[in-house]
Amino acid sequence: MKKIGVIGLGMLGNAVAQHLLDSGFDLTVYNRTKEKTLPIKEKGAKVASSPKEVAEQAEIVIIVVKDADAVKQVSFQKDGIVEGKNENIIVADMSTINPSESKNISEKFLEYNIKKLDIPVMGGPNVAITGDLVMMASGDKNAFESCKNVFDSIANKVFFLGESGVAHSVKLAMNLQITMLALALSEGITLVKKSNVDPKKFLEILNSTYFKTGMSEKKAYKMTNGEYDATFTLANLKKDISTITETAKSLGIKLPMIEKAEEVYGDALNEGLGNIDYTGIIEYIKKINDSK
Ligand SMILES: NC(=O)c1ccc[n+]([C@@H]2O[C@H](COP(=O)([O-])OP(=O)(O)OC[C@H]3O[C@@H](n4cnc5c(N)ncnc54)[C@H](OP(=O)(O)O)[C@@H]3O)[C@@H](O)[C@H]2O)c1
Repeated sequence: MKKIGVIGLGMLGNAVAQHLLDSGFDLTVYNRTKEKTLPIKEKGAKVASSPKEVAEQAEIVIIVVKDADAVKQVSFQKDGIVEGKNENIIVADMSTINPSESKNISEKFLEYNIKKLDIPVMGGPNVAITGDLVMMASGDKNAFESCKNVFDSIANKVFFLGESGVAHSVKLAMNLQITMLALALSEGITLVKKSNVDPKKFLEILNSTYFKTGMSEKKAYKMTNGEYDATFTLANLKKDISTITETAKSLGIKLPMIEKAEEVYGDALNEGLGNIDYTGIIEYIKKINDSK
């Protein structure tokens, strides 16, 4: 696979597209808001005026948009991917969406003889830019194998997990970890601050133990400084938390902590914190304690 299309140049899609271009792939991009395509156009990518046009130019079309509704829009609505004339394309969806929605979308693509893979990823724009994401893939195994060179460029680890939808189930379980880690650090930092302990000392101690994480070693220091430049917005994490609780419901299982977290992140969103980094959840914990 040499000719790649990327639909969605948000924080993640833009970094993935930049990396593919830097790696020598022939790249065609589309973004709903056209201004976002200008920087990558200057670097040599072709810019399409619709998802349909991307499908006509590419062998593999990677979708990286907000949610399942957006995936359906770029896929099946007017000038969507399925209207493209290239019948040999493979579609690979990197957006984080509900596993059952993903399965339905794969089935709908099959009505047009198009194979769709799920390729959700872990890691943000900062690692996407160097091709160091971790990818979870599911769907048609042969289609997966034929795109493997592209996936190996995007990610330093690629896990094929089975039938359509399952990669998203694992991705949701991963984002459940992120949700809890950001909250646990927020509450820990708030507790030590109120006890007149320097939160950096708390982090130094935490990071000397078995319980350290990448987040406690890196983003946590930004949290103590009030730096929340977004690599993944709080609004998008809240979207994923709601997808986790919906998925738990459809599986008939009870996950009590994520239900509580959905309330907390929902309240933070209502306080206008949606556009900052998800680690800005600490601002909400601060806010509800500042009056005390
Ligand atoms: N950022 C991360 O670290 C990260 C990591 C793993 C997975 N993800 C997942 O990757 C996806 C993209 O995340 P992001 O951080 O790049 O989000 P983002 O910066 O908010 O970008 C969202 C993208 O979706 C497009 N979009 C939204 N609604 C659309 C619609 N109805 N039709 C067409 N395009 C639409 C936006 O287009 P406009 O520019 O026109 O608004 C933009 O290109 C999400 O599903 C997210 O959960 C993100």
